[in-house]
Amino acid sequence: MTDTALPRITVIGTGYLGATHAICMASLGYEVVGLDTDPRKIERLQSGEVPFFEPGLPELLDKTMATGRLRFTTSVEEAAAHGDVHFICVGTPQKPGMDAADLTYVDASVAALAPLLDRKVLVVGKSTVPVGTAARLTALIKELAPAGDEVELAWNPEFLREGFAVEDTLRPDRLVFGVASDWARQQLEAAFRPIIDNETPVVVTDLATAELVKVAANSFLATKISYINAMAEICEATGADVRHLAKALAFDDRIGGRFLQPGLGFGGGCLPKDIRAFAYRAEEIGVGQAVSFLREVDAINRRRRSRTIDLVREMVGGQLNGKKVACLGAAFKPNSDDIRDAPALDVARTMHGLGANVRVYDPAALDNARRAYPELRYGTSAMDVAADADVVVLLTEWTEFREIEPSALASVVKHRRIVDGRHALDAEFWRAEGWEYRALGMP
Ligand code: UDX
Repeated sequence: MTDTALPRITVIGTGYLGATHAICMASLGYEVVGLDTDPRKIERLQSGEVPFFEPGLPELLDKTMATGRLRFTTSVEEAAAHGDVHFICVGTPQKPGMDAADLTYVDASVAALAPLLDRKVLVVGKSTVPVGTAARLTALIKELAPAGDEVELAWNPEFLREGFAVEDTLRPDRLVFGVASDWARQQLEAAFRPIIDNETPVVVTDLATAELVKVAANSFLATKISYINAMAEICEATGADVRHLAKALAFDDRIGGRFLQPGLGFGGGCLPKDIRAFAYRAEEIGVGQAVSFLREVDAINRRRRSRTIDLVREMVGGQLNGKKVACLGAAFKPNSDDIRDAPALDVARTMHGLGANVRVYDPAALDNARRAYPELRYGTSAMDVAADADVVVLLTEWTEFREIEPSALASVVKHRRIVDGRHALDAEFWRAEGWEYRALGMP
């Protein structure tokens, strides 16, 4: 280690998490090397292009590349030689056909790096993993690394939200350091010095707890969303209004209004797979009962999608076949081009499968959607896909959809019918403008 005041950093895996982490660390003054096995990703980043949609990140990449502190490579030798602290930021997707997390990339990155570690360095896992992974990797590193016991592993979960990735990385709510020694803690403190100095709370703990913090946090958030959506189901059966219910609950500080937004539910690359992998892991280690409610959280969330389709079907007279449906939104949430487990596309595809004539528009996710689902039809704007529609379905609450004028939309559709899957519109206003308006959990 050259200088604990400013350890040299590598970031292994330059996907969403890794690229953001690498760019942000370089912006804080660290010398950073980003490593990936995908040469196209590395070329794009090295030429100053962020390969995904994230507000603020392209500008920050420009700025940091200009300082000369950041470079990207496919050479693991180069990364191993550079780093005092190596962050592992590779993906841990859901295993195909299973609820378990797929640790192939984590294992492969450690297997590639460890044999090149010939001095005392710290390897830090950031990826979301099943509890117990860090203990297993510690043994693997010690076995493979020429420096043996000198190399240590720590865990530092990442809580960034897409769309706010830069802000969440540079000004996180908290830092969690899972460490096995005081030395490891010191290295992490050195690697996050500017953020710690910014009065960010730091929780120092063991490896297993650090692994758990991430899945516990995401499970809580998913549960909160499914809770209000379960209330929406009760509202529907009783004539109550979930919007007012959520508003009244939110005034209680102990409950709070964040992640209490009812509607089509959660998707994306984290929440759905994290709760499944957590439930799976808990079952594996014999404490499945403790989090069996997560299965219910998942089930409530999936029902949101089919209930939304029910609303559309009811609105067009009971049969989707041959009906023109305008879908507003494809991304799993606004300000993102991410379509992983996107509720919007799930709904669009199912309606397409039921014979509806579906057209989709999204401000950022169209290219990804087209690649993944070429069978769907896409349009160039909300007005374009709404032309002559029997029904409009709002599936992702982009600001440009929230701001649509009911009268403008009325001038292009065949029927003034809208299903608001995200409670994004002013129901009373739309109804006053002559629209038949439906949303989950309200009369
Ligand atoms: C999430 C966590 O928030 C983040 O801390 C973690 O690091 C990664 O997973 P992200 O997947 O980017 O982040 O999305 P988030 O903003 O949490 O939204 C998740 C999903 O929940 C979206 O589909 C969103 O539409 C939905 N959601 C969110 C609701 O349905 N209702 C809400 O009240 C809030």
